[in-house]
Amino acid sequence: MTDTKREKVVLVTGATRGIGHAIAENLADAYPLVITGRSADQLNALKKKLNDAGGKVEAIPADLTSSDEIQALVEGAIRSMGRVDCLINNAGMGIFGRVDEIQEKDFRYVLELNLLAPYLLTKAVLPDMITRKSGQVINISSVAGLNGFKGGGAYAASKFALNGFTESLREDVKEFGIAVTAVCPGGVRTEFGGSPAAVRDFVLEPEDVAHTVRYLVDESETANTKLIELKPRRRPDFR
Ligand SMILES: NC(=O)c1ccc[n+]([C@@H]2O[C@H](COP(=O)([O-])OP(=O)(O)OC[C@H]3O[C@@H](n4cnc5c(N)ncnc54)[C@H](OP(=O)(O)O)[C@@H]3O)[C@@H](O)[C@H]2O)c1
Repeated sequence: MTDTKREKVVLVTGATRGIGHAIAENLADAYPLVITGRSADQLNALKKKLNDAGGKVEAIPADLTSSDEIQALVEGAIRSMGRVDCLINNAGMGIFGRVDEIQEKDFRYVLELNLLAPYLLTKAVLPDMITRKSGQVINISSVAGLNGFKGGGAYAASKFALNGFTESLREDVKEFGIAVTAVCPGGVRTEFGGSPAAVRDFVLEPEDVAHTVRYLVDESETANTKLIELKPRRRPDFR
């Protein structure tokens, strides 16, 4: 890990698998990390792997639908690493169904994890960033935050709202030199939705999203990429 980058502490949510796991793996050679998710075993396995390879990684399990656990997570991150310079709101989930069929509790749950949790995490890290006049928030949204789709009433609503939150947050904090970005990937080959996604002609790898996020974390202190829509290219084996 280079000394200059060792200064920037990154908190990655949803790091136990999928996109968040790939983001942590990509960043660990250059940045101190706090990784989180609910599954302590998976978090600790990733922490060990990355630390054995020379990283500086702390794991703090948390359920992000609990505001108390979010508060404890941010306090724990600051206690162990000194501060949070970059928050990556990646944890998220989808429950799909026609609007008249989707359960109210499921609709609420999707909003709670995909929208409320990023808001509460941002709120918890922001005062310190404002004091230091530096920081970064990266929200992993989706193409479903730009286009509605059949069965996406809850999920697309949460991601459109996350994009609106991201836009407004950037206006709130740009005077303090804090960068705010939405990343909107198309389909990614993860266990999102409950089972591993099949390889198909157009699908991103989690590492593709991690590569894009790395670009943002590396971005200079005078630039702020606003939104990235990341589409898959037709895979070589299907061309
Ligand atoms: N896969 C796609 O096609 C795709 C496309 C565009 C955008 N996205 C977005 O990318 C993000 C990551 O998705 P993914 O595909 O990597 O999904 P995934 O493989 O299902 O991983 C989701 C992550 O979120 C964590 N998580 C879920 N519920 C949580 C909770 N209540 N509290 C704390 N952590 C929780 C999970 O950890 P635990 O289960 O251990 O808590 C896991 O680490 C999401 O925001 C998703 O909307 C995905």
